[in-house]
Amino acid sequence: MDSLIQLQDLEVHFPVTTGFLSGARGVIKAVDGVTLDIPRGETLGMVGESGCGKSTLGRALVGLTRPTGGKILIDGKPLTRDRRVQMIFQDPSASLNPRMTIGATIAEPVRLNGLRKGRVAITQRMLELLDLVGLPRTAAYRYPQEFSGGQRQRVGIARALACEPDIIVCDEAVSALDVSIQAQIVALLEELQTRLGLTYLFIAHDLGALKHISHRVAVMYLGRVVEVAPKAALFANPRHAYTRALLSAIPVPDPAIERQRRRIILKDDIPSPANPPSGCRFHTRCPVAVDRCRVQEPAWQEVSTGHSTACWRADELPELMPDPVTSSVNT
Ligand SMILES: Nc1ncnc2c1ncn2[C@@H]1O[C@H](COP(=O)(O)OP(=O)(O)OP(=O)(O)O)[C@@H](O)[C@H]1O
Ligand SMILES: [Mg+2]
Repeated sequence: MDSLIQLQDLEVHFPVTTGFLSGARGVIKAVDGVTLDIPRGETLGMVGESGCGKSTLGRALVGLTRPTGGKILIDGKPLTRDRRVQMIFQDPSASLNPRMTIGATIAEPVRLNGLRKGRVAITQRMLELLDLVGLPRTAAYRYPQEFSGGQRQRVGIARALACEPDIIVCDEAVSALDVSIQAQIVALLEELQTRLGLTYLFIAHDLGALKHISHRVAVMYLGRVVEVAPKAALFANPRHAYTRALLSAIPVPDPAIERQRRRIILKDDIPSPANPPSGCRFHTRCPVAVDRCRVQEPAWQEVSTGHSTACWRADELPELMPDPVTSSVNT
């Protein structure tokens, strides 16, 4: 077994009160049966609309949320809350204490986890971490508010690295930054992965944001993974109608092609995870749904090596929903 992370039928349901007068109870099925493996050293990109359960899955992996079903195995062993799995967030300022210097912020997890002993060794390690993320050593004496968003994200990364993790969950870690800064942070994450052998779960709500960094991509819809594939296969030949729609939303840099891009606009909002649709959960919004999709849940099928999908129309999809860009260019 060479998977560092294995999710087996992972489920995170939140109990909620639905009727405010009757006090009726329900459950939000935020993550509802996810099975996934992530090999060591890989970046798995995870994409899906707002509310589909990405952060909940990430939080479960870090041990911040307790699963209500299924299993999380790290190196074949059940996950216990563990410094080896760390998370970096969209808004680093919300997770940085404005009254703590950058130096203290980074040194704290080194000390708390007993990774270095004594002031000199801890300070030395803190300075090394600043070097590692490309911040000047003088940053140690300054406060988070004195830095830009991109630099604060570097502090967030340094603090995660201070725990000497194997796995980092990047939850929309670059989404709030300017495009040029995003590219710098992505390049830093890639460099750190090579140097330190890190494994990433990289969460974003659009495919464009994870195109560069991912090795494989998993597409989530309403608490489920609906397609997973090596990056190239997913972008070139998506086999779930939802993935096709997400792909059509990515702008193309070439203006001549961009003018012809046909965007697949999905009707309605994502349905409530308290009451997911029958059959294929995507059928209420799917442009190519047939009767079967409304009643029967699609079987998970491998369409090529490492490329799996849960769509009844997977085989016909390339003709039913032609590539929104290349097909319009060819005609
Ligand atoms: N603690 C909680 N209690 C009840 N419901 C919750 C809780 N946390 C999340 N949810 C619900 O679970 C669902 C999934 O939320 P989650 O934050 O995981 O989605 P997401 O894919 O990360 O969305 P976004 O792209 O907006 O960050 C949503 O319907 C959300 O309202
Ligand atoms: Mg989220």
